[in-house]
Amino acid sequence: MTRVFSGIKPTGSVQLGNFCGAIGRWVDGLPDAGSPAADQRDQVFCVVDLHAMTVDYEPETLTATTRQVASILLAAGIDPARCLLFVQSHVGGIHAECTWLLNCVAGFGELRRQTQFKDKADGSEHVSVGLFDYPVLMAADILLYDTDEVPVGDDQRQHVELARDLAERWNHRFGNTFVVPRATFPPAGARIMDLQTPTKKMSKSDDSPQGVVRVLDDPAVITKKIKSAVTDSDNDVRHDREAKPGVSNLLEIYAGVTGSSIDAAVTAFSASGYGNLKSGVAEAVVEYLAPFQQRSGELMADPGEIDRILRAGAELAAERANAVLQRTKRSAGLLLP
Ligand code: TRP
Repeated sequence: MTRVFSGIKPTGSVQLGNFCGAIGRWVDGLPDAGSPAADQRDQVFCVVDLHAMTVDYEPETLTATTRQVASILLAAGIDPARCLLFVQSHVGGIHAECTWLLNCVAGFGELRRQTQFKDKADGSEHVSVGLFDYPVLMAADILLYDTDEVPVGDDQRQHVELARDLAERWNHRFGNTFVVPRATFPPAGARIMDLQTPTKKMSKSDDSPQGVVRVLDDPAVITKKIKSAVTDSDNDVRHDREAKPGVSNLLEIYAGVTGSSIDAAVTAFSASGYGNLKSGVAEAVVEYLAPFQQRSGELMADPGEIDRILRAGAELAAERANAVLQRTKRSAGLLLP
């Protein structure tokens, strides 16, 4: 079986783009419930709270967001009977120790060249060593689970490439130790854009709250945001990302949440104006999210149950990661106790 690992940062609340994109792909890839493949738990998903600490943050917010993101994943169908779900810091000692080992083969220059580091460090007054080392911690996450595939967004390409380089370098220096992972990306074009600035990706840590549909937003709020989406002035419903980014985005959202094609979406609305298009899309999104919101509401009402699921996940994760860590330490010549 192909082993899959991916992570989600508990910063900001999950929005429609992550939900239909990353999380949707993770859920679609799960084996059937009760199948032998499900028992293997070869798909591993991690709420990466240690990564969330690399930039300024509020401690209380981190606690709440970590539990919230975990419950969103559970409600979305990341089913602990078919995969492994855990919080990174629950297995933090192992991830941190593996990061140290990898730090000793990672180069200062290659970390300095990481575009995410450059973007985040640029213009900020205080740049933490944690932010600099972020990609090495991410490599440890991936390598500790003998991962074959890492489903990520395009912005994580360089980080997964670094994890590959570190694994290969380690194997070359110390003998075959790590599985060399590869990134997998969503199909081209499958991208939900910001409702207010439809030329940029919808993003959870965004400062344009009106352009971002959060999956836990009230139906009334979702409707209002979609009805205020930026379009254009010709009132002609067609799909053309270049000339009509706003209208095209609405059509793509509609196709995404109803599981239909873009052509079908265009046909459904071509005779109507933008007003009807927007209310149609709003209704479809609200209906799509309703069962999920119901489940996540039930889960969130019982934080003890979420914590129990996460503890069980961490126990299994620790067992697996520790086996890989011991193998790694032995390969490096560390005297095992
Ligand atoms: N850096 C990833 C992001 O911002 C999150 C992440 C951390 C991750 N560790 C990972 C993703 C391991 C995939 C695999 O999206």
